[in-house]
Amino acid sequence: MKVTVVGAGNVGATCADVLAYREVVNEVILVDIKEGLAEGKALDIWEKAPINVYDTRTVGVSNDYSKTAGSDVVVITSGLPRKPGMSRDDLIETNAGIVKSVTENVIKYSPEAIVIIVSNPLDVMTYQAHLTSKFPRSKVMGMAGILDTARYRAFLAEALNVSPKEIQAVLMGGHGDTMVPLPRYTTVAGIPVTELIDSEKLDAIVQRTKTGGGELVKLMGTSAWYAPGAAAAQMVEAIVKDQRRVFPVCVKLEGEYGIDNCYLGVPVILGKNGIEKVIELELNEDEMAMLKESEGHVREVMSVLDKLNNK
Ligand SMILES: NC(=O)c1ccc[n+]([C@@H]2O[C@H](COP(=O)([O-])OP(=O)(O)OC[C@H]3O[C@@H](n4cnc5c(N)ncnc54)[C@H](O)[C@@H]3O)[C@@H](O)[C@H]2O)c1
Repeated sequence: MKVTVVGAGNVGATCADVLAYREVVNEVILVDIKEGLAEGKALDIWEKAPINVYDTRTVGVSNDYSKTAGSDVVVITSGLPRKPGMSRDDLIETNAGIVKSVTENVIKYSPEAIVIIVSNPLDVMTYQAHLTSKFPRSKVMGMAGILDTARYRAFLAEALNVSPKEIQAVLMGGHGDTMVPLPRYTTVAGIPVTELIDSEKLDAIVQRTKTGGGELVKLMGTSAWYAPGAAAAQMVEAIVKDQRRVFPVCVKLEGEYGIDNCYLGVPVILGKNGIEKVIELELNEDEMAMLKESEGHVREVMSVLDKLNNK
């Protein structure tokens, strides 16, 4: 199996590293526009192979998409990250152009690939990749839900002083402050979380999760990469190993949840064909209202993209 990761910056290089040391695939191609960057990082990951004991071949290229030919999965991380004070939506103009040109190059050489978008604003960049590739929705998706859920699970594990392995959760909606954590569907080794934590503490954790990306941007001056890179690699693994794992993933909704033609995070089954199935949960009134609010926000940014594309 062969995977291409476009963008050898913080997130892309981390994703390539996880794919290599976990031996998810045989070959990882790292691509960047900056001369030497992808070559250098791929070589560094390859030189780590004898230490961490793996044999995944990692190769870097500067803008030469012929080397990516025949990739089974392509992860697109190219684009600007946020700086303090910026929202993800502020990145739209620059990143839409990058995602468009990268998608064109990628599908030229890998017309059968499954495409995972990481660049922000996530939901709308997934829409851009969909417009450019014209691939079915099962083959173009965005990574955000695994990361947002991981943040929520990590905060809960800390508050409850239990292993993060024990926390199962699902989170829906757009990748932004209108994301929809679902405490009703959160368990600690099968125990409803509401039995273990009072509602005030849980609300504070939900709030922290919604602004979890911004918390890190404030601390580091740029956005996160360890968890985002690992989250994208986990999606690749579910696809190439046909694991049929259930993850929140950004996908084009086609009537599910009463929402049509909008890109939102929802639980899906991920397997060899990409999105194997969108899972429709029974949401209560409050949860549905939050999802609708998130939809409204994503639709606003989608219409900004439409205007940019029609300029
Ligand atoms: N979806 C998520 O949950 C999530 C999480 C973290 C970051 N992000 C987003 O991922 C993107 C990357 O973040 P990062 O921290 O890795 O940024 P980074 O600046 O470290 O890396 C981005 C890389 O993209 C490269 N690039 C730019 N234009 C390119 C092009 N046309 N072709 C190939 N490469 C190109 C740059 O040279 C750079 O190396 C940002 O948009 C960020 O907001 C998303």
